[in-house]
Order: sequence, then C-alpha cells, then structure tokens
Amino acid sequence: VTAGPAPKLVRLRIDASKCDGQGVCKLFAPEWFELDRYGLAYVLPEAKRLAGDDRDLWALMQEAEATCPRSAIRIERLAAPPAPEPSECVEAPAVGPAPGEPRLLQDDTVDKWRAAGGFSRRAPGELLAEVQAASLFGHGGSGFPSVRKWAALGPGATLVANGAEREPGTVKDAYLLGTRPHLVLDGALAAAHDRGIAKVVVAVPEGEKHLVDALDAAQREIGADVEVEIAEVTRAYVGGEETALLAALEGRQALPRMRPPFPAERGLHGKPTLVHNVETLAQIALVNAYGAAWFRSVGTEDDPGTGLFSVGLYDGEFELRELPYGTLLSEVVGREEAVLVGGFSGGLLRPDQLDVPLTRSRLSSVGTRLGTKSLQVIPAGTCPLRVVIEVLDFFAQETAVQCPPCYRGIPDMVEMLSRIERGEADEAVVGELRLFNETLAGRGLCALPDGAATVTLSYLNNFADDLDAHIASGCPQT
Ligand SMILES: Cc1cc2nc3c(=O)[nH]c(=O)nc-3n(C[C@H](O)[C@H](O)[C@H](O)COP(=O)(O)O)c2cc1C
Ligand code: SF4
Repeated sequence: VTAGPAPKLVRLRIDASKCDGQGVCKLFAPEWFELDRYGLAYVLPEAKRLAGDDRDLWALMQEAEATCPRSAIRIERLAAPPAPEPSECVEAPAVGPAPGEPRLLQDDTVDKWRAAGGFSRRAPGELLAEVQAASLFGHGGSGFPSVRKWAALGPGATLVANGAEREPGTVKDAYLLGTRPHLVLDGALAAAHDRGIAKVVVAVPEGEKHLVDALDAAQREIGADVEVEIAEVTRAYVGGEETALLAALEGRQALPRMRPPFPAERGLHGKPTLVHNVETLAQIALVNAYGAAWFRSVGTEDDPGTGLFSVGLYDGEFELRELPYGTLLSEVVGREEAVLVGGFSGGLLRPDQLDVPLTRSRLSSVGTRLGTKSLQVIPAGTCPLRVVIEVLDFFAQETAVQCPPCYRGIPDMVEMLSRIERGEADEAVVGELRLFNETLAGRGLCALPDGAATVTLSYLNNFADDLDAHIASGCPQT
C-alpha cells in the first residue's frame, strides 16, 4: 500500500502470536480487518490493494496500530535504499567468465580463484554501489533486494552467512560450502570490508563435518583479516529462518521472533547483523571481482545473472544446474509432467504452464515462486493433490508452534485437503480453504505459513480440473 500525505511504501501486518481475537480492529476499521475461522484477525485481501495518498486511510491505519489492545497490529515501512556515494576508485575489475560459461558451478581452488580476480578489495562504499547496480537479490528464498539490508545496517555489525539450507529439494548451499568455500568467504569478507564489519559467522547444519572442514581449510589458506567463526546449527526447518538462526547462534532455542527490529538494526547479541544466504555471498564475491556490468551481462533486466537450481524428481535425488535467470522452465524439465517450483514453499505448475521464464515476477504471476530454485518434477501417476498434502504435512510437523494461524491452520488445511482427496468434500470446503489461504500470508512471525498458502493456492488455481475430479469422486489416481 502506498499511503499518507507523502506517499510511503508500507505494509499492514498482524502479529499472529499476539492477536487473541478480541476483534477491536474489526469494530474499529472494518475496511481493513476481519476475523477468521478461529476468531483471529487478518488484513482483508482488498485492503492490501488499496493505494494512493488518501489521508483518511493513512490516519485509520495509524489509529488501528495504536488501538489494538494486544499491540498486535503493526505498520511496516518499506524504505527505499539511499543512493550510494559516488566512488573515487576507478580501477578496472578483472574479466569474468563469458556468457554461457559457469560462474558458480565450477571446481576451483583458493589459488585459482585468486588468479581469476578473487580476494581483491574495493574502496569502502564501492561494493555497495556495485551490489545496487547489479540489482542483487537474496538467494535464501525471499528474493529480497540485498542493498536494502546493506543500507539499513547499523554500526558495529556482524555478518552471518546462512548455510542452514533447510528447504527440501535444495542442494546448492552444501555444494558451495563443500566445493567453493573460498568463494562464499570471499563474498562475506568483501562485504565485511565494505560495511566495516569486524566478525563473520558461517552457520552450517550440525553433523556436516566435511563442510566445517572445507570452510576451516579455506579460511586458513585465505588468511582472513576479519574474525571468522564456523558454527553448527540445528537441522529444524525453522532453524534456517534468520531470526531463529540468530537465536540458535546465541545458544537459545531456534524460534523466529517478531520483526521489526530487523536483524540489520538489532540481530546477533543485540547488535546490527547482516544475514545473507551463502549463495548470495558467492554472488557478492563475483560482483566484487568483476563488477555490476559484467554481472548483468546475462539474465534479465530485473533478475540479472545466473543462479544455482536444484533439479530432480519430487522425493528423489537432485542435481545442480547453473542457469541464467529468464531461462524457460520447459528447457530444463520438458513439458510432460507437473513441477513443484521454488521448494516446498513454492507452487505447483501444470505441464502446459512450463513455458515460463525463471524469474521472480514471472513465476509469481503463475502462482509460484523462485524461492530456493528447487525444480521438482512430479512423476507421472503421482497425484498433485497428494503432493500438496505431503508438503503441508511437512509444514505441520515443522511449525515452531508460536502462531495460531500456522500451528492450527496448517493441520486443518491437511484435514480439508484429505477430505477432498477422498471425495468427501464439496465446494463449500474449497471456498473455506481458499479464503483461509488467501488471508494467511504475513500472519506468522515467520514466512512458513506464507509458503503453505502459496503451495495450496497454486493447486486450487492451477489444477482446477484435477480439483473438480477429486470433488466428484475422489482421487483419480487410485
Ligand atoms: C521457515 C524458513 C526457513 C528458512 N530457511 C532458510 C535456510 O535454510 N537458508 C537460508 O539461507 N535462508 C532461509 N530462510 C530465509 C532467511 O530467513 C533469510 O531471508 C535469508 O537467510 C536472508 O539471506 P538472503 O537475503 O541472502 O536471501 C528461511 C526462511 C523461513 C521463513
Ligand atoms: S513456524 Fe509458524 S508458529 Fe513458528 S514462527 Fe513461523 S509462523 Fe509462527
């Protein structure tokens, strides 16, 4: 929503862990709020589309935030990044791989990477300008513009490299940490140099000794001028969410917490913290070595560069492919079977929908996400509804049990979808399921319920014929 006397980009959210369903918001501002099937508040889908500089709406929003007796309503201001200072540094960057050659997916060494332009350092502030010019976005699943976090970072910050890689069907971070740990470390250290960061923490899933050893060896060979710590963290799904990860690194239970404050303002041990996925850091190393113009020489205008995609059969093995953004999905997986795109928190596409370019906006226009770039082909004979139920079952197991729409809503969704699968549900159940999912995103302390909604809505919207067949007489595959 853009609202207010001077247009602002803002988002109205309800902290579901606080809302106790008194409904003051609904009485107070029925334009904005409604109560769901559990009697808990959500922001109406129509309200999310309100736009303009309407002073009354802006005032109502602020009053709603102030009036909620549980302080559960919050207005998030999405600030535009400040323009970076022009740099004095004019040294030409090294020349990177040509279009078509791998950037990320190659087996090199510390020495080879150094000879190829790695470990160079720019004048402080210059890398931020390059990261902005490269339109780099986060590769941990959210696709969030990296420069916004850099610009919001307070002084005395720590950098946390998120290598938890908890999304099922995603194998890119383990590859980078095991095979090119020097690239990840170079990106982290270059970012630290640019932002005046004194400490880097690399988080890896517990029990992966080979990743710790690879990082350790690379760190010693590079001879980092910044303190680097390698920390093993819980394998729980929510343990990869940034605020849960920070809690685990502090020795507390890995539970997501409310934002704001965002980690860039208050993160590890209360200090500003830049959290980046390890692939994002590898991409930063490339931008640092070769510059934004080179980075943008493949990919699309909005999604430049290449990315590491994990390609395989749902519930099977995955291989890594490095692809320029904008590549047609059908060129990677063919047009024969349905595909789960983006990981479990992505969405399902029909075989006739696969001529879609692999970019954030084009994938979301067909109801899925780029997410963690997992492309899971659904084998012929596997019911897409069964896949959705299994994915939601996974989320129901992995909930951190903090937010009612998550820990009550997702098991209920499994139950409703199971009734549909057995041919025991009617259109009313589908309507209820749809409404709940259309209002679920943004109602958890973390984005786990958003993922559950994306995968469910992708089935309801993209597999209408399959849904009808299930309602008529149960699963056509059995
Ligand atoms: C439930 C959940 C699990 C997540 N797991 C991971 C993970 O395993 N690795 C990761 O890098 N990001 C994960 N994220 C995203 C992080 O919260 C965060 O956005 C990311 O680490 C930021 O890095 P980026 O800006 O480089 O993408 C997860 C998010 C959620 C909601
Ligand atoms: S996993 Fe669910 S319960 Fe836990 S913080 Fe995220 S939304 Fe809330």
